[in-house]
Amino acid sequence: MAKQPVRVLVTGAAGQIGYALVPMIARGVMLGPDQPVILHMLDIPPAAEALNGVKMELIDAAFPLLKGVVATTDVVEACTGVGVAVMVGGFPRKEGMERKDVMTKNVSIYKSQASALEKHAAANCKVLVVANPANTNALILKEFAPSIPEKNISCLTRLDHNRALGQISERLKVQVCDVKNAIIWGNHSSSQYPDVNHATVNTPSGEKPVRELVKDDAWLNGEFISTVQQRGAAIIKARKLSSALSAASAACDHIRDWVLGTPEGTWVSMGVYSDGSYNVPAGLIYSFPVTCRNGEWTIVQGLPIDEFSRKKMDATAEELSEEKALAYSCLS
Ligand code: NAD
Ligand code: LMR
Repeated sequence: MAKQPVRVLVTGAAGQIGYALVPMIARGVMLGPDQPVILHMLDIPPAAEALNGVKMELIDAAFPLLKGVVATTDVVEACTGVGVAVMVGGFPRKEGMERKDVMTKNVSIYKSQASALEKHAAANCKVLVVANPANTNALILKEFAPSIPEKNISCLTRLDHNRALGQISERLKVQVCDVKNAIIWGNHSSSQYPDVNHATVNTPSGEKPVRELVKDDAWLNGEFISTVQQRGAAIIKARKLSSALSAASAACDHIRDWVLGTPEGTWVSMGVYSDGSYNVPAGLIYSFPVTCRNGEWTIVQGLPIDEFSRKKMDATAEELSEEKALAYSCLS
């Protein structure tokens, strides 16, 4: 029997990530090739005409899985009945800005959209916050939508995770699909800690640790980390715009793995509500290694953490605590 369509909300859908993301969702990249979808696209009134243009293109693309399109500037209409919400709406940073510089504008959006989602989304709606500062926006959304289970609210660090896999694949000249189990700890910001201590590469003679193959700890503990931390800024410098196709693709990866499950023996990175695992303070949205089954994520437990990693994991937690305080001061 054919599956019932899932309503998928994309906020900021007239923007550049939105433009890359909605065709991916309509093609089944996010929820699978047999899952029909109804797209709900939200933007603000100045972008209404552009948003309508995106709707026209979606119709023109004749996607077989796309069963309807709602394009609106009304947040209640946008949120009604959605089973997946991808929150991209907000203001991107420009060259020279840190992600927390867009805090004032963006956290207030997440406070007001939290209540619309809480009241009007489908029960068990899964929420992914993409807009920066992504972890803190997700935390604000969680705090102002208390009836949405905290397990259902996440932020995007899969882009950083994929960037880490990409850097290792370039360095070792191996296929990116053969590299797995990198970890992004903490904030989607330049304080994040990309960790390859547990990452492996599938080789013709079996799975090998990344450290054993790279044979250059100085690179892994130095340039590799800063390249991943600064990749967003490097894209802005090169494109004069922030990353869009890679962000859209990572958002699809994040929701697909959350809903359909991570492959056996593989974990991914997701920004989720900290329960105190790995001595990360509870009450932050922090990126952890997770596996997903039956639509639920679980933090991978018991990984050994060395002193180098500990310091970096604590530093990014510290930044998140500061961002949380700053966000509350912006809202008061
Ligand atoms: P963009 O400016 O091209 O698009 C943003 C869209 O949001 C615009 O169309 C704007 O009108 C809309 N918008 C603004 N306020 C809104 C509101 N209250 N409700 C609904 N829509 C609203 O920006 P972009 O390049 O698409 O980036 C979007 C966000 O994603 C930025 O905050 C950016 O920094 C962030 N980002 C995050 C990641 C990540 O990995 N987490 C990666 C790339 C970009
Ligand atoms: C990214 O990582 O590409 C985005 O968060 C955009 C940015 O501001 O860096």
